Amino acid sequence: MDERLDFLFLNEEEAIEAGAADITRCIEVMDEMFLLLGKGDYLMGSPNHNAHGIKIYFPKESPFPNMPRKGPDRRFMALVAYLGGRFNICGEKWYGSNVANREKGLPRSILTTLLNDADTGAPLAFMAGNTLSSTRTGAIPAVGARYAAPKDAKILGAIGVGVIGRSCLRGLLTVLPGIEEVRVYDLMPEAAKSCCSFLEANFPVKAVPVDTLEGAVRDCDVVNVVTSGAVSPKLEDEWFKEGMLLSLPASADVSTKMMSESKILVDNWKMYEAYAAELRDEPGGFAKNLSGICGYMMDLEQQGVIKREDIVELGDVVAGKTQVRTDEKQRVIFIMDGMPVEDLAWGYEIYQNALARGIGTKLNLWGGYHS
Ligand SMILES: NC(=O)c1ccc[n+]([C@@H]2O[C@H](COP(=O)([O-])OP(=O)(O)OC[C@H]3O[C@@H](n4cnc5c(N)ncnc54)[C@H](O)[C@@H]3O)[C@@H](O)[C@H]2O)c1
Repeated sequence: MDERLDFLFLNEEEAIEAGAADITRCIEVMDEMFLLLGKGDYLMGSPNHNAHGIKIYFPKESPFPNMPRKGPDRRFMALVAYLGGRFNICGEKWYGSNVANREKGLPRSILTTLLNDADTGAPLAFMAGNTLSSTRTGAIPAVGARYAAPKDAKILGAIGVGVIGRSCLRGLLTVLPGIEEVRVYDLMPEAAKSCCSFLEANFPVKAVPVDTLEGAVRDCDVVNVVTSGAVSPKLEDEWFKEGMLLSLPASADVSTKMMSESKILVDNWKMYEAYAAELRDEPGGFAKNLSGICGYMMDLEQQGVIKREDIVELGDVVAGKTQVRTDEKQRVIFIMDGMPVEDLAWGYEIYQNALARGIGTKLNLWGGYHS
């Protein structure tokens, strides 16, 4: 092997130095990624090209003392993809998640991203993925809001303001300059309070912690829910304002009536069809096997409660094939489960910035022994 293969390593600080936290730029890159999605210039895992990723399911019980047990938000996931256009890249996001990490002073999920040359398969970059991922996740509700928020949105509700929740608020406030007030609810009042201080220091808004779920939904034009844990917040129908956008990067307990009467916007319906194919033979319906709002939505679609023609894909919207709103008064529920193409697009941007600015450490995979 005479050919030398090097790749770039970026730790978390270096990824941030290369722009990983730049939400404004990330929103534009995610918009561009959704355009490619709408055109079909991408591949995700499985022969159907649309698998979210492969998950290690932990058992409830095990005779092996070291084997991880099932727990809230506890999983390992490998998300793989190819993204076309100017990106022309393959890669993987790989992470482990455990709510109990907080007790050890660690983030709930710990992520890495790998980028590979789409032709040779050679690794190009291996980078810390936490800021990368929280920024890309925060940018997706922003892209959705750009196309689906009600006109003149003034009040934003936020439920759950951990790492991802805050990133979503940064994204939403970037694309919704008309927002005057943010109402923040979190099970941990301290988190809501510190989030409000952060928002007021960084955006021209009034930010108020509220002490009930209702306080973060009633009268709000846009509501974003990003909690973690076993129980999703239950949102009552009478709290929903006419014409509002409910943005769900994580799950919420929404009535069947509200789901069926709202326009459903999704990041990629083909991904949910891929889930459906994978879970087809599992007993108990999709909700039993795919936790949260995604499985619930898939069950409702299969039962005919939500009609396929009422489900809009964000890629199609960005590509100009369709639009979200046909009626100002209709509520929109945006459901997004996250996709590896998002990590690849944002990872590629960080990689290019790092190369241009000499950030990171070049590591040798093999070869060059005779040079
Ligand atoms: N769609 C995507 O692409 C994507 C990507 C990453 C994470 N997520 C999801 O985002 C969620 C949040 O991730 P995180 O890393 O910020 O988690 P986190 O644990 O750091 O923060 C969650 C916050 O929600 C609060 N919370 C929990 N239950 C609540 C409730 N019922 N009501 C109000 N607040 C509540 C917690 O106190 C905490 O502040 C997770 O469910 C995760 O799976 C989605």
